[in-house]
Amino acid sequence: MERSAAPVALITGASSGIGRAAARVFADKGYRLVLASRNVAAAEAALAEAGGGGLAVRADVTDEDQVAGAVRAAVDAYGRLDAAFNNAGIEGAFRPAAELSRAEFAEVVDVNLTGVWLCMKHELVQMLAQGGRGAIVNMASVNALKGVPDSAAYCASKAGVLGLTRAAAVDYGATEIRINALVAGAFRTPMLERVGEHVAPGKGAEMAESFAARIPAGRLGDPAEAARAAAWLCSEEASYVHGSCFAVDGGLSAI
Ligand SMILES: NC(=O)c1ccc[n+]([C@@H]2O[C@H](COP(=O)([O-])OP(=O)(O)OC[C@H]3O[C@@H](n4cnc5c(N)ncnc54)[C@H](OP(=O)(O)O)[C@@H]3O)[C@@H](O)[C@H]2O)c1
Repeated sequence: MERSAAPVALITGASSGIGRAAARVFADKGYRLVLASRNVAAAEAALAEAGGGGLAVRADVTDEDQVAGAVRAAVDAYGRLDAAFNNAGIEGAFRPAAELSRAEFAEVVDVNLTGVWLCMKHELVQMLAQGGRGAIVNMASVNALKGVPDSAAYCASKAGVLGLTRAAAVDYGATEIRINALVAGAFRTPMLERVGEHVAPGKGAEMAESFAARIPAGRLGDPAEAARAAAWLCSEEASYVHGSCFAVDGGLSAI
């Protein structure tokens, strides 16, 4: 086990997009990283890019044993877990609500909501065991607050993350574990490009860029901007922020 005063952060979905940017941001803030994704080679690449110390682990967030293994890997390597960014998510099939199959609906809820709960469960067990200290950020979306076409399972799963976060914040309010949800707007990532591709096949990237016209700030977010908000929520600067649905969205949820 490595002995150091540097804090330890677990980031899920670290192989791409916002999670990958979070690896860089948390490393810059001095965290030792445990990067989780189903694609361990991509998580290793994210770790190398972040330039900090840490490890990459294979974890499908829908598999409780693998989630428990990711938390155990952090503890085996570093003795504790200080922060967790439960960011992994999928957009699912784009179809009107009545046209989704049960399997399509279940897959999105399984990854985006049950996966966040499984991660939070095992992170909380560890944080409680080490004296009831830590910070957890669960990835939601502005789509938790709005109806979006062809995205019923996604919207439902992200709204569920808000409810899950609030309830857990009440459960653990008397500890020094803070739990918040990140209400992310539109960020330039592979996922947003796939959304653009659905709207305009063959022109995914251009379509994604065009979403900027609907955002009060007039631009898409850079993934590092979402990552910095997550890192701030994990920091001592946010010592009284608990149970919040924290928007990082260029004003999108304000309209
Ligand atoms: N981009 C946006 O505009 C936006 C807006 C609001 C919210 N969000 C949310 O932000 C999060 C990150 O999105 P992104 O845009 O960065 O998407 P992305 O580039 O597609 O990255 C998604 C990440 O989730 C991981 N993942 C997916 N299913 C997984 C599973 N079962 N187990 C473990 N990891 C899994 C993927 O890794 P592997 O495939 O390697 O496992 C990948 O690292 C998601 O929760 C998304 O809903 C994004």
